[in-house]
Amino acid sequence: MYVSKLTLKNWRNFRHANVRLGWRQFLVGPNASGKSNLLDVFRFLRDIAKKRGGGLQEAIQRRGGLSRIRCLNARKDPEVSIGVEIAASDARPRWRYEIGLRQESRGFRRQYISFERVWDRDRQILARPNEQDEMDAERLEETYLEQVNNNEAFRGLRQFFEDIRYAHLVPQLIRHADEIQGRVVEDDPFGQGFLQTVAGTPSRTRKSRFTRINKVLKAAVPQLRDLQFERDETTGRPHLAGRYEHWRPNAGRQRENQFSDGTLRLIALLWSLLEGDAPLLLEEPELSLHTGVVEQLPSLLHRAGRKRRRQILVSTHSSELLSDPGIGGEEVLLLSPGAEGTAVTVSSDERDVRLVLEAGACVGEAVVARTRPVGLRQGLLPF
Ligand SMILES: Nc1ncnc2c1ncn2[C@@H]1O[C@H](COP(=O)(O)OP(=O)(O)O)[C@@H](O)[C@H]1O
Ligand SMILES: [Mg+2]
Repeated sequence: MYVSKLTLKNWRNFRHANVRLGWRQFLVGPNASGKSNLLDVFRFLRDIAKKRGGGLQEAIQRRGGLSRIRCLNARKDPEVSIGVEIAASDARPRWRYEIGLRQESRGFRRQYISFERVWDRDRQILARPNEQDEMDAERLEETYLEQVNNNEAFRGLRQFFEDIRYAHLVPQLIRHADEIQGRVVEDDPFGQGFLQTVAGTPSRTRKSRFTRINKVLKAAVPQLRDLQFERDETTGRPHLAGRYEHWRPNAGRQRENQFSDGTLRLIALLWSLLEGDAPLLLEEPELSLHTGVVEQLPSLLHRAGRKRRRQILVSTHSSELLSDPGIGGEEVLLLSPGAEGTAVTVSSDERDVRLVLEAGACVGEAVVARTRPVGLRQGLLPF
C-alpha cells in the first residue's frame, strides 16, 4: 500500500498543501523549503502509531511541542491538520485518516486532538470527538490510532504507519561508532545502529541481501570486492569487511571504518531498499555519491519500488538524479517558498515546466533552475 494523497494545514512551513502522491515521488526545492518537514509528516504518523514509545503526546514532544509544529504563518486558524489516503493500487483508497491538533490557549495549555476520523473504503468508521470525548475532554489527549482497545477496526492502518521507514545515513556515525558510543537517536534515522541492524537480521536474509549489494558494488565501487558481515573475534562487535583491490594485488581486507563516505552511504541505501515493503523516506540519497551512480539512482529506486509495490519518497537537490529521462513530471513535487509559507505543486502542473518537458528536456533541466534561489540568479554570493 502507499500514501496516495496528502493534505496539510499549518504543518510547519506549509500553510496549506494538497497533493496526490505516486509510488515514486521526488521532492525538490531550495534549501529550507521544507523537504524534510514534508517527510516529517509521515514520521509523525509513525510516531503516533508505533507500539513501543509511541503515542500522540510523545510525538508532539519530540518535536518541541505543538507551537513548534504549527506554521508560523498561521493566522486566525491555529489548528494543525493532516489528512492521508492509503491505497493498494491506483484505484480508490483503502483507508483515509484525518487528524486535527490544537493547544489550549490558557491554563495547562494541553495539546489535544480537535478531530480524528477514519474511513475504511467509503465508510466512515471513526468520528471524534464522540460522546465519550464530550464527557471527558482528557480523552482527546490521545488518538484512537495509538490505543489497542479502540483501533480494532483499523489495525491495518496503524501497522502501515508503524512500518514507515526513514533513512538519512550519516556515514561518520557508522565509521566512528566505537569512539562516539553516543546515544542512538530513537528509531535510528541516521544509521548509527546500522551494523546492529545487519547483525540482527537472520543470516539467510542477510546473505541474500549482501549478494545483491555486492552486485551493485562491483559496478559502482569496483575496487571493493566481496563485502561481508563479520564479528570481531575479541569484542564480538559487528563489522562490514571487504577485499580492497588497488595497485597492490591482494592488498587485504578492510573494515567499514576505512570505507569511503559514498561507499557506506550506498551500502546502507541498498540495504534499506531491500528491507521491507512499507513506504521508505530517503533524504538526499545523492550525497557523497559519484555523478555516474547518482544518475542511476532513479532507475534503481524504480526497480526496488515496483517489484515490492513499495512507495519511495525522496528529497533531492541533484540535477543529475533528476536527469533520468524515465522520471515523469508528475513524479516530481516542487516546493516553492513564499510569503504565505511553502507551496507544494506537481511539477508538470506548472506551465513553464510543462513547456520545457514538451520540448523534450528531462525533468531535471526543467525544475532545478526553477528552484534556484532568486539571489543566486544574479551572480556571485556577496562574501
Ligand atoms: N512551524 C514552522 N513554521 C514555519 N516554518 C517552519 C516551522 N518549523 C520549521 N520551519 C522552517 O522550515 C525550514 C526548514 O525546512 P526543512 O524541511 O529542513 O528544509 P529542507 O529540507 O527543504 O532544506 C526552516 O527555514 C524553518 O525555519
Ligand atoms: Mg532537509
